[in-house]
Amino acid sequence: MYYRRAGRIPPKRHSRFRAPDGALYHEELQGEEGFSGNQSFLYHRRIPTAISAARTLPRAGPELVRNDPLLPRHLRTQDLAPRGDAVHDRFTLAGNAELTLCFAAATETGPLYRNAVGDELVFVASGTAVLESPFGALPVHAGDYVVIPCSTTHRWAVGDGPLRLLIVEAAGGGHVRVPRRYLSPTGQILDGSPYNERDVRAPEGPPDGGDARDGPVDVVVRTRDATTLYTYDNHPFDVVGWDGCNYPWALDIREFAPSTGALHLPPPTYLTFEGPGFVVCSFVPRLFDYHPDAVKVPFNHSNVDSDEVLFYWAGDFMSRTGSGIGQGSVSLHPAGFIHGPQPGSAERSLDAVRTEETAVMIDTFAPLRLGAEVGRIEDDQYAWSWSRLDPARGSGPESPEPTTQTLR
Ligand SMILES: [Fe+2]
Repeated sequence: MYYRRAGRIPPKRHSRFRAPDGALYHEELQGEEGFSGNQSFLYHRRIPTAISAARTLPRAGPELVRNDPLLPRHLRTQDLAPRGDAVHDRFTLAGNAELTLCFAAATETGPLYRNAVGDELVFVASGTAVLESPFGALPVHAGDYVVIPCSTTHRWAVGDGPLRLLIVEAAGGGHVRVPRRYLSPTGQILDGSPYNERDVRAPEGPPDGGDARDGPVDVVVRTRDATTLYTYDNHPFDVVGWDGCNYPWALDIREFAPSTGALHLPPPTYLTFEGPGFVVCSFVPRLFDYHPDAVKVPFNHSNVDSDEVLFYWAGDFMSRTGSGIGQGSVSLHPAGFIHGPQPGSAERSLDAVRTEETAVMIDTFAPLRLGAEVGRIEDDQYAWSWSRLDPARGSGPESPEPTTQTLR
């Protein structure tokens, strides 16, 4: 993100900066890509590296299974009962080598947590929370995207619960970014982009809480091969000031202001984030296409290079009428499957002026596997909905029932 500063920092990096008692503050650089990417500089009251214990936690890696037979899927996150916290109690929806997509319905404030594998992009589906980090407190609410840079120690402090979170854990290297095409050569968000710096919220820092931020304190650290519980001598939030371009930030999806057109515009119009191996788009309330002959719902399409996940957050979803999709649903339309609106919705769309839907789309560039437990929340009739709703198909005894069979 763009440059910010909070609290007290010295005029020069790597220079003498003393507390009122004369002790040197402890400078920490948190940066990306080996000192060659975005960086922030934080100033701790106490040494941030001192640990007194480390133990391995049971690996909570996602268990994934093949999407076999290859089918479009409808997963109902609205059926996940609230439980636990936003770190230990994640339900895996899907994943591949580059990301894991999961969901949490947290009722409790979580542990101090640091994901050192990759950035996390979180969409807050319901509830309120404060994302606490060494950069300060970032209050978040339903409708917010939250970008948490890799290796940022943080804690989800639940406010109004349950806190329902759609979480993208990036694992393919690289980071979650503002799309390149929205940026000037030196990184300013260009006019005409669907959001800009004014829409971005950053932590209200610095977080230093005096003695309340003293240690020892446990931190869960997730790396590629292990999850480790460290006991730190000093609290990681004992920061008196920071500056830089690497920090957690939030964007309310309602601030996303897309272009509209005479005829249907494709999903890249709604591009919101670029990540390693995936992109994220925001479908928000907007005017429909204004050509007098416009068909307002999407055309059938087959994307050979991506799997498409949609999280249906708010409003009504006209293109999915009759399919069982509702608020909280996740659809997965895999590469190799031609998908489009349910029968009848194109005709119904013709006189519509605007849409009130809000949905988050995650397109992955490699095929997704399914979370091993998704059968608990899957609507197993979704794959047949285009056929079932087709008035040309009829419903007589000659109509075959849908079958699922794996060919060996
Ligand atoms: Fe699609």
